[in-house]
Amino acid sequence: MNRTKSLLLCFLGIAIFINTAIAQQKTTAQKVDELLKKMTLAEKIGQLNQYNGDWEATGPITADVGSKLDAIRRGEVGSVLNIIGVAHTRKFQEAAMQSRLRIPLIFGQDVIHGYSVTFPIPLAEAASWDMEAIEKSARIAATEAAAGGVQWTFAPMVDIARDPRWGRVMEGAGEDPYLGSLIATARVHGFQGKGLGNLDAVMACAKHFAAYGAAIGGRDYNSVDMSLRNLWEFYLPPFKAAADAGAATFMNSFNDLNGVPASANRYLMRDILKGKWGFKGFVVSDWGSIGEMINHGYVKDNYEAAEAAINAGSDMDMESRSYIKNLAKLVADKKVSVATIDEAVRRILTKKFELGLFEDAYRFNNAEREKRMINTAAHIEAARDVARKSIVLLKNDKQLLPLSKDLGTIALIGPLAKSKKEMKGFWSLDVGDEKEIVSLYEGMELAAPKTKLLYAPGCDITDTSKAGFDEAYKAAMQADVVVMAMGERPDMTGEAKSRSNIHLPGVQEDLIKAVMASGKPVVVLLMSGRPMVFNYTADHVPAILYTWWLGNQAGNAMADVLYGNYNPGAKLPITFPRTEGQIPIYYNHLNTGRPAHGDNDVNYTSAYIDLPNSPKFAFGHGLSYSTFKYSNLKLSKKTMLKTEAITVSFDLQNSGKYAGEEVAQLYLRDMVSQPVRPVKELKGFQKVMLQPGETKTITFTIDKNKLSFYNEALEWITQPGEFKLMIGSASDDIRLEDSFLLN
Ligand code: GLC
Repeated sequence: MNRTKSLLLCFLGIAIFINTAIAQQKTTAQKVDELLKKMTLAEKIGQLNQYNGDWEATGPITADVGSKLDAIRRGEVGSVLNIIGVAHTRKFQEAAMQSRLRIPLIFGQDVIHGYSVTFPIPLAEAASWDMEAIEKSARIAATEAAAGGVQWTFAPMVDIARDPRWGRVMEGAGEDPYLGSLIATARVHGFQGKGLGNLDAVMACAKHFAAYGAAIGGRDYNSVDMSLRNLWEFYLPPFKAAADAGAATFMNSFNDLNGVPASANRYLMRDILKGKWGFKGFVVSDWGSIGEMINHGYVKDNYEAAEAAINAGSDMDMESRSYIKNLAKLVADKKVSVATIDEAVRRILTKKFELGLFEDAYRFNNAEREKRMINTAAHIEAARDVARKSIVLLKNDKQLLPLSKDLGTIALIGPLAKSKKEMKGFWSLDVGDEKEIVSLYEGMELAAPKTKLLYAPGCDITDTSKAGFDEAYKAAMQADVVVMAMGERPDMTGEAKSRSNIHLPGVQEDLIKAVMASGKPVVVLLMSGRPMVFNYTADHVPAILYTWWLGNQAGNAMADVLYGNYNPGAKLPITFPRTEGQIPIYYNHLNTGRPAHGDNDVNYTSAYIDLPNSPKFAFGHGLSYSTFKYSNLKLSKKTMLKTEAITVSFDLQNSGKYAGEEVAQLYLRDMVSQPVRPVKELKGFQKVMLQPGETKTITFTIDKNKLSFYNEALEWITQPGEFKLMIGSASDDIRLEDSFLLN
């Protein structure tokens, strides 16, 4: 009896202990509210203010504010950007710990495609169509950034872009909302990992909200004018995917949308993001964008800018100083309520608690972890793997590629053949040492040590001098094969880098022509952050690889593909135009009342009389060293109710002699609908590894969600009728077709 009694007492004691612990375990919301009650209005406003650090700026510097460390000590700053490294961030955090309430700072940084180990630019990674690889890239970037004292990356950029004149096309996932949504999800999961509070997780930031990629004329920061239906159909899906994936923050964009700047766009931030989508994180403005509403002509001064922005849902002001200088007066003037301020502060403090910064403001400032977690062999190997997967084989006539490692001599020609830091592309960080970057020359030397490499730059990237042509031609004449490394400078694609002329710059195509005259087999590698125009090369050079900017392991990855250590399987995430005059051109266009049939149909059709109608290279295009056969298409049924689904299956065979991956793509077309629908829309894909001769049966499931669209009332609906189903290797390389009825 005593034994039972003591056991019971023991259990009772444990129960009481647990209950007490739970009672003491306040929720984050309770902690935020408790802190909020202690804060003065000035301290609340301080949390809404973000300053650039004392390192390089990523935007125009506005008026100076004196010592930022003193401002932080006065509780006037909630976050700092462009400060990295545990020592440097610690110095700023120490200042925050001297403020009255010791509210920690959040450190934000554009960790767009890697921190120390730089990965391929996002558009290149998008070409991999490999969500696992894309997520891994973001995961490693986050791990290194968090070890470096950063808690917040201003990524993923999820802007749909159809205009390659726009420099920031390099930063996103291309033109398609389906692919872009999957990539947005992968990147948010990669950056945030197992969740905020983990020491290898950083807050993601879906940007730029919204439709920034539709800037008229592809001119950065320009106006965006589109129907709300277009906004919902094409530009919002990747943002919704990022929100659904749990993105901790959003960043609004510089552009106006139909005359309302995004920084004060209540429809975007309050109606859609925080309302319909139930977003609980916070919204930061883009650099100075709140103050730039004066330039827009939307407000007359920073006082009005602050009022418009905070009331529309911009929680934090990056670098415009509008909030810190005007919100107190706006509250006094009853133009902004304390409740509105509190709502913004609550959102920001919630993330600081979730990051664990109130428990330990220095938890991300561990010098030993910084050393251990950055630039590891595993990260370097992963960067090489993602880079290989991002290289698109545009052309390979007569199977010129892969090259034999027994070749006697290769002439390696071009202005980018020995480049190193250029390989990192735009939005890369100045972390790590240039010697860690592998050039194409070095990669080829390592891959085929027996082959003699003759190097000749031939010309500069943008210069018009042809003085180097002769040396290049002579090198070609001594070689078995010529490999040419051509392209832009990395600073020709990126923010504020729109180009009206996207041809291969300088005299590079003249150099290619001159080298082709040698009669030797020529392979051209094109390096750029955007689709370029290179029609002579595309029409005359037998083998072309589009290598974008591949990051630290560029040279090894390019050599892996050149020599067949890796069989390329990437596909274009964006359409390549024949010339600038063809822009905008994208695959998921409407049919019009007078569609052109074929490249040269100009008989009263929607076409140019001086240009074939098709793009130079289509969305989804990308070759392999293998070939793939599609056959035996089957539908589980030919009619479906919207409560049902159709299973589509087909056989995919590797009919080549190399093991390789194929991205089999599923496109649908709603043949008759109101409003009309695109001639095709990507609704599924599978990246499949097949051994030579191997066949796999691939299946897709078509449910009503793949058939739905927004009607004129912006309702997400389906309409009964016939759907055309297309399966292929590219949007312009359809191998199997069928149709079915939605009843
Ligand atoms: C820049 C960019 C934005 C970036 C921010 C901070 O102007 O538009 O994408 O995150 O400023 O660097």
